[in-house]
Amino acid sequence: MKKILVVHGPNLNLLGQREKDIYGSATLAEINGALSRLAGKSKVRLEFLQSNHEGEIVDAIGKAKKNKFSAILMNPAAYTHTSVAIRDAVAAVEIPTVEVHISNIYSREDFRHQSLIAPVCHGQISGFGTDSYLLGLQAIINLIK
Ligand code: DQA
Repeated sequence: MKKILVVHGPNLNLLGQREKDIYGSATLAEINGALSRLAGKSKVRLEFLQSNHEGEIVDAIGKAKKNKFSAILMNPAAYTHTSVAIRDAVAAVEIPTVEVHISNIYSREDFRHQSLIAPVCHGQISGFGTDSYLLGLQAIINLIK
């Protein structure tokens, strides 16, 4: 069974209580549950990482090939706009990566308009609320099957 690594970046552990007007009321556990149901139907396996630490995310991406992941689904959160290290890890690992955002980063503050990571990803989905994750996972499933 193919394995997909799901990476949630900083502060996404606070979903459900964090800026609900922007990010909605679903918790991270609820999002992971919905992803797991879609994965189950599509016969792929998910492993989840939420981290507030850039280096931990870099390490997980760097090991993804050795750990036999076929793809990465990632919401890099604030690191989207700042992390050359996560971008370089995605570029290095050569595993298809899909970047997702709950909010539409292009309709928000200027500093959110640039993703350093999207150019080395297969694609990006932004602005569909928590459905962005499900759309991203479906895109990955179509890609790797
Ligand atoms: C986010 C958008 C980022 O700009 C922000 O820093 C986040 C969440 C989103 O899912 O909409 O933490 O990635």
